[in-house]
Amino acid sequence: MITKPKGTYDLTGVNGKIYTYLSNEFMAYMNNYNYEFIRTPIFEASELFHRTVGEGTDIVTKETYDFKDRGERDITLRPEGTAGVVRSLIENKLYGNRNDSIKLYYNGTMYRYERPQAGRYREFIQFGVEVFNSNDVMSDAEVISLGYYFLSDLGLDITVKINSLGDAQSRVDYTNALVDYFKPHINELCSDCQKRLETNPLRIIDCKVDKDKDIIKNAPNISDYLSQESKDRFEKLKSYLNFLEINYEVDESIVRGLDYYDENVWEYVLESDSLALGGGGRYNHLVKNLGGPDMPAVGFALGIDRVILKLLDIIDVRKLDNAVDVYIMAVSEEEKIQALRLAQNLRLNNIITEINDNGLSLKSQFKAADNNHAKFLFILNDDDLQKGLINVKDNVTKEEIKISEDEIVDWIMGNI
Ligand code: HAM
Repeated sequence: MITKPKGTYDLTGVNGKIYTYLSNEFMAYMNNYNYEFIRTPIFEASELFHRTVGEGTDIVTKETYDFKDRGERDITLRPEGTAGVVRSLIENKLYGNRNDSIKLYYNGTMYRYERPQAGRYREFIQFGVEVFNSNDVMSDAEVISLGYYFLSDLGLDITVKINSLGDAQSRVDYTNALVDYFKPHINELCSDCQKRLETNPLRIIDCKVDKDKDIIKNAPNISDYLSQESKDRFEKLKSYLNFLEINYEVDESIVRGLDYYDENVWEYVLESDSLALGGGGRYNHLVKNLGGPDMPAVGFALGIDRVILKLLDIIDVRKLDNAVDVYIMAVSEEEKIQALRLAQNLRLNNIITEINDNGLSLKSQFKAADNNHAKFLFILNDDDLQKGLINVKDNVTKEEIKISEDEIVDWIMGNI
């Protein structure tokens, strides 16, 4: 038997139902917030991720799926969605002459070669949003609140952990301070952090291995290195979040795993959990660094596999079942032909209809109707059909009634 690759899973059954529900909910949110859909390729030139996510990040050094295609091009399966969206924004000049915000959203699979565990996969799904052309902290607050309310409305008890990484100068100052601080203690750090001291000192701060060591707890705080402007932006963000009644806390260990961020960043977490359900932040220099105009941006992505795992515990899955309005029962050839015709007519009128299409006995059809939570049964029989009548049974009250074929659609629409 051929089995699925390590770190992947098949989205089926209840998980599949929750995924469909989440996709529909997210699309409804996107509609209300006036976002436009974007789809970018699952694979891109490797260089794109080196220049965006960052050479020294765990994602690029250890986790990307890289290969040469048959034309000897260096290709990488996308580990995240932002880089592709920015590439597309620039390549297609999606900004045109606009001076208002460009608001885009996506829903797709991402690929990271991580050690698999519950909630951490090698193929996973993100729903993400990216907003370009606004440098106002108001858009940070708007974007944070969108993710917060999306998750909270699902019944999840979300805290938004926020931090400021400051502007470019603040980051350089802070990074230098970290290097000065950690260098004399290099042997106390895990082997990854010893490398990070050279390549990406900021990431030592959120190391999962070293996190409880005093050396990390006593490290310099980024808040001491922020410029006045960055501090003001962070204070403003907090006041907006207070006003929007968002449950947040400041957490200076939120430094994010990708290099493109500056200023305000955040993660959506559940109190009980160490894995974030989502994360994002501002990335005001990425568009320009990739060859586009000087255009500020902010966004986030949610880890939908993790959201599904959490919802499995709390959601009433029966509510997600697509209860069938009508189950049409047919046995003889004449009944089957009529069943096909009727089903077509009902479906075109937005009535959810199921039909016996695999030669089940009448008894099995009753069972199938129950499996589909059918509200009404149309029990076809040749005698009724010749008189132009349909025998309708209410599957809850068990009452039966004969309705003329001409009136059946109107009747059912009035009764479901
Ligand atoms: P990220 O924090 O790397 O940010 O990923 C966002 C979310 O994707 C995480 O919080 C997590 O829920 C989920 N995730 C990440 N890796 C895995 C995995 N191996 N298995 C399951 N879920 C995972 C980004 O990707 C940024 N592009 C977000 C962003 C958009 N920033 C600005 N715009």
